[in-house]
Amino acid sequence: MAQKKADMGGPRHVAIIMDGNGRWAQSRGRPRLFGHHAGARRVREIVSACPDLGVKYLTIFAFSTENWKRTQTEVAGLMSLFRRYIMKEMQEFVRENVRVRFIGDRPRLDAKLRGLMDEAEAMTAHCDGTNLTIALNYGGRDEVARATKRLAQDVADGNLDPADVDEETLPKYLDTRVVPDPDLVIRTSGEARISNFLLWQSAYAEYEFIDTLWPDFTPEIFADLLKGYGARDRRFGGVTA
Ligand code: FPP
Repeated sequence: MAQKKADMGGPRHVAIIMDGNGRWAQSRGRPRLFGHHAGARRVREIVSACPDLGVKYLTIFAFSTENWKRTQTEVAGLMSLFRRYIMKEMQEFVRENVRVRFIGDRPRLDAKLRGLMDEAEAMTAHCDGTNLTIALNYGGRDEVARATKRLAQDVADGNLDPADVDEETLPKYLDTRVVPDPDLVIRTSGEARISNFLLWQSAYAEYEFIDTLWPDFTPEIFADLLKGYGARDRRFGGVTA
């Protein structure tokens, strides 16, 4: 299923693996959470830059299903940052017409955070500007496993015929079902891995791995990467016309 390039030649949907907060803080002799706070401020700037850059969908990897392995202090600090971030930024997102959605496995998150996530989604449900998707306790394999479980349940309940299952079926069960596939996936901090992010959805995405640490990622750097994307020729397995 080929997607068209965005009208202005830029990507319509950009997904970002925001890596390097810890190193950014450590290089300043500060605790890792200091880097996460700086990273959160960057999120705000990058979201605000989207309308001018023609980016209609932005998906960011905030916390992975593997991130629970970090120290209890870091995990608790990140959870508290997410709670405070949602409380602080929501009015601003509404003002900027940003629709917020969360993807990932919610039951493992604490009730207060889950409540705030529901509230943020409800408060911005009418917004039709930038679509911001925040991946929180998200893992691509976990998402596919949860989707498969729901699909299997529909088969068991007689609502889906296995003979009708094709490439278009599974995406309807993924957390991202209302969001198009990403055109461009960016990872900061010099690591060239996708770390279980949007595994199904990024089958045809372009990738940019850049050395900049996430807290140093400016709207100018973002704009430059998007220009580079505009110069590429995406063929989706076909040939150029
Ligand atoms: C990776 O850097 C970053 C994370 C695991 C957390 C991402 C979170 C933010 C950018 C902050 C806030 C986000 C929102 C939506 C409020 P790392 O810790 O792996 O850095 P390192 O590789 O240098 O150790």
